[in-house]
Amino acid sequence: MRADDTVECHVLVIGSGGAGVRAAVEAEQYGDTVLVSRSLAGKGGCTPMAEGGYNAVLRESDSCVLHKEDTIRGGAYLNDPELVDILVSEAPERFLELVCWGAVFDRTDTEEFAQRSFGGQRIARTCYAGDRTGHEMMMTLLERLRASNVTVLQEVSVIDLLKREGRVVGAVSLDAAGDLSVIHADSVVLATGGAARIYDISTNSATGTGDGFAMGYRAGAELIDMEMVQFHPTGAVYPYDARGRLITEAVRGEGGILLNSKGERFMERYDPERMELSTRDVVARSIHREISEGRGTPRGGVWLDVTHLPAERIEKRLPLMLEQFLAFGIDIRKERMEVSPTAHHFMGGLRITPTCETTVPGLYACGEAAGGVHGANRLGGNSLAETQVFGKRAGEAAGRAPSRGIRVDSRQLDSYRRKIEEFREGGVNPAMVVKKLQEAMWTGAGIFRNVKDLEQTLLDVEKLSKKKLLAQTPANRAECFTVQNMCLVASLVIRSALLRGESRGAHVRTDIFQSWDAANSPYGHTYISHHRAGIEEKKVPP
Ligand code: FUM
Repeated sequence: MRADDTVECHVLVIGSGGAGVRAAVEAEQYGDTVLVSRSLAGKGGCTPMAEGGYNAVLRESDSCVLHKEDTIRGGAYLNDPELVDILVSEAPERFLELVCWGAVFDRTDTEEFAQRSFGGQRIARTCYAGDRTGHEMMMTLLERLRASNVTVLQEVSVIDLLKREGRVVGAVSLDAAGDLSVIHADSVVLATGGAARIYDISTNSATGTGDGFAMGYRAGAELIDMEMVQFHPTGAVYPYDARGRLITEAVRGEGGILLNSKGERFMERYDPERMELSTRDVVARSIHREISEGRGTPRGGVWLDVTHLPAERIEKRLPLMLEQFLAFGIDIRKERMEVSPTAHHFMGGLRITPTCETTVPGLYACGEAAGGVHGANRLGGNSLAETQVFGKRAGEAAGRAPSRGIRVDSRQLDSYRRKIEEFREGGVNPAMVVKKLQEAMWTGAGIFRNVKDLEQTLLDVEKLSKKKLLAQTPANRAECFTVQNMCLVASLVIRSALLRGESRGAHVRTDIFQSWDAANSPYGHTYISHHRAGIEEKKVPP
């Protein structure tokens, strides 16, 4: 695209991970569809990096009722039950659709789909392709995308949604050269993923910066449960450049055990029944405790050990882990891995209906950009399923929405031109702001939280958000917008964390005495928008 180009379509999908591509493929059946990707399509989101698997009820011994119960218990009873019903009942169909489209998942000797155990689930229901499940799905979806009529704009960053007459009617974007463009659309789907990159240590790719949360918020949409950030228990500790990289839960699903520096299998103390396959919030906190109480490894992790498993099993089921650690000089067939928690996933996000409508007309959300499905803690394997189930729903709903022909008013671009001018004249390196933001969030709004640290971190974030960022070249303009979005999202996380005066799932407030367990909490979702912020209270029966 060239400067001040305009694009017109029926549906605009922002984000090219699993949810975005699935939404675009669906929407295209109803009208002209444009998919915008800030990286190369399918390379940037979290789906291609997702390793462990896709949860689906496929066997007689399993049921949607069990999957729903596991999901809601794992989510500390904060999940939206209607969305969970949809997830569990449609996940199998979407899985088989991927298979029909060519995805190759592992099978058993009897040619059934292989399913492995993941944390918090009473039945082995996580389907997989070795430990490259997301990659396999993404390759399949990209084939489908190529075969469709979807127009794909790559290396284009959407910087804001545009509204008219109370509706989202398009978006403004920057191309790789930093030139502004407008995209007019009847409906817009945000499939922009999460924001775990606001933390110092994270599994996310460079695109996990929360731009969709920030754009939705500015457009007036309501976000829920933004305090619910999942820390995956096992990220790489070493080497420094690989810090935080995902060490899949499949390692524990295949029988891997966690040990502290004294050689103790410490999960016995925290969850003797489920051990390493407890839910992620519990395992991450347990590891954090072991390390902070002095039972960590010299580099500040704990050990994850598969050396007792047959070498062939590791080679077949965990080939990526084997290859990745061999590249660091560690043979996991004979040596232990060093791991510690890493920011991984946002359970919160834009509030959606079952058809993925947000609270702003014309705007839809799916995948990690949407909140409510996973409650206060997501089960591993539910996210890949969510991308397909809600990606399809969002694409269909956006596609079916009528064409209204409301066009963006070109004067709306003036404020973005002024911002670009400000970035040209700014003096602060955006990378420096990101580093400070990530460190502040890790220290003050991480696994354990208290009011004093949260309030101080909010002040720090507000200060950072006022920095006059410098775009060294026109190509760096998009980065400046993203850094401002990261600061905004960080403030939403902290403000929501302050609103939730209880410990629940991934959100633990060490400064609050609590007399209830999650199932009996008097609270529902936190919500935050331009217009209002608060926490829902449940009606307690008399
Ligand atoms: O550990 C993993 O493989 C991650 C899976 C997930 O987040 O669903």
